[in-house]
Amino acid sequence: MPYDVPFVPTPEVVVRRMLQLANVRRDEVVYDLGCGDGRVVIIAAREFGAQSACIEIRKDLYEQTLRRVKDLGLEDRVKVIYGNFFEEDLSDADVVFMYLLTSVNERIRPKLERELRPGTRVVSHDFEMPGWKPLIVEDLYEEWRSHKIYLYKIPGMEVPIPTEGIKNADTLLHDENLISIAKLIDGNRSIEDIALKTGLTNRQVRNMINELIKTGLVKELRLIK
Ligand SMILES: C[S@@+](CC[C@H](N)C(=O)[O-])C[C@H]1O[C@@H](n2cnc3c(N)ncnc32)[C@H](O)[C@@H]1O
Repeated sequence: MPYDVPFVPTPEVVVRRMLQLANVRRDEVVYDLGCGDGRVVIIAAREFGAQSACIEIRKDLYEQTLRRVKDLGLEDRVKVIYGNFFEEDLSDADVVFMYLLTSVNERIRPKLERELRPGTRVVSHDFEMPGWKPLIVEDLYEEWRSHKIYLYKIPGMEVPIPTEGIKNADTLLHDENLISIAKLIDGNRSIEDIALKTGLTNRQVRNMINELIKTGLVKELRLIK
């Protein structure tokens, strides 16, 4: 299989800063496109409590990452995939980490725009995503050179649409957390708004909304791109 990008690792201090800027939180799902030696998924899992995954096309690097993950006992937190990141489903990501090339970013952009949910953060080392407006561009000096970090967020909103029954959430539901989320659902607030208000992650809020859809108190999760 042809490699789109050679293996050059991101220095660990830069990895940490990138994950910090992307505000990775416990149990969020972080994808690294191209595992290299596995440092990104390992740091994301050990230091940020993420549920991380990476995709690597080179067998030797895939095996190296898998070995490191096993040696550290991180198999339940890190998924290592042998394959081509152009062909893997990335829709479950909360954060996508990339150290590729501008030309490769440009080629993967339509896939990211198609698959990633609104609010997903994309953080790229040294190479920007042509056509996207970064939220943050940061220079980080490390040993002998400066590194550029680009942080993006997928635009759009996911808005839970309530049914009439939501007014009676107090009496119909038994779970306090679900009740407090139900009270915030008004057909205008997005998952991100609710997450900000409650201090939960988008993922946690989305999971609760899926519960509320099962109870019939929420009609649907409307995607506004
Ligand atoms: C510049 S390195 C970055 C490694 C790691 N993400 C980091 O930041 O330390 C790019 C990695 O992507 C892998 N790669 C290149 N093309 C790929 C593809 N189409 N699918 C999966 N991995 C690929 C390379 O083998 C290499 O390990």
